[in-house]
Amino acid sequence: MFVQFRLFNPSELGAIIEITKKNLTERYNDFVFLDIQRSWPSAFIVGMSDHSIAGFICGGISGEKEARILMLAVDTPFRNNGIGTGLMSLFEEEALKVKVNKVKLEVRTDNLEGINFYKNHGYLISSLLPSYYNDGSDAYTMEKPLIPT
Ligand SMILES: CC(C)(COP(=O)(O)OP(=O)(O)OC[C@H]1O[C@@H](n2cnc3c(N)ncnc32)[C@H](O)[C@@H]1OP(=O)(O)O)[C@@H](O)C(=O)NCCC(=O)NCCS
Repeated sequence: MFVQFRLFNPSELGAIIEITKKNLTERYNDFVFLDIQRSWPSAFIVGMSDHSIAGFICGGISGEKEARILMLAVDTPFRNNGIGTGLMSLFEEEALKVKVNKVKLEVRTDNLEGINFYKNHGYLISSLLPSYYNDGSDAYTMEKPLIPT
C-alpha cells in the first residue's frame, strides 16, 4: 500500500469526521477539529492512501513541556500497514521541534488493541482516570518521554 503523510487541510473536515465516527467511540462537535488544527497545525497530520484519507492524528500542547495526542485513528481497511506508526512518529517529531519532553494520551481501559499499540511504541500506563469518557468508561493515561536526538 502506497501511503503519504501531509498536513490536514480544513476542507477535508468531512472525511476526518467520518473516520472519527467509524473508529473512535467519543463524539466531538465539528468545531473541535478546527480548534485543534488552529492551535497546533503542524501536528494535525493525515495519512493518505491513493486519494483517500486513511487516518489522522492531532493533538495539543499542555503546560510548557507536554504534548498530548487528542485523537489517533486509522480506518479499518487501512490498518496494519504502518499508517498509525507513521502518524505517531511524525507527531513525536513535531513535539520535539517545540521542545516538549513528554507525550501523553488517554485511552479506554477496554481498548486492548490501542493500549498494545501504544506500549509497542514506548508508552507506559501512568494513571487511571475513572469515568473519563462521556459514556462513563474509564481511561488510562499513557506517556512517553521524548529524548532529543
Ligand atoms: C491503534 C491504530 C491507530 C493503529 O493503526 P494502524 O495503522 O493499524 O497501526 P500500524 O499499522 O502502524 O500498527 C499496527 C500493527 O501492525 C503492524 N504493522 C506495522 N506496519 C506493518 C506493515 N507494513 N505490514 C504489516 N503489519 C504492520 C505493527 O506491528 C502493529 O502491531 P502492534 O499494534 O502490535 O504494534 C488503529 O488500530 C485504530 O485506529 N484503532 C481504533 C482507534 C484507536 O484505538 N485509537 C487509539 C486510541 S484512542
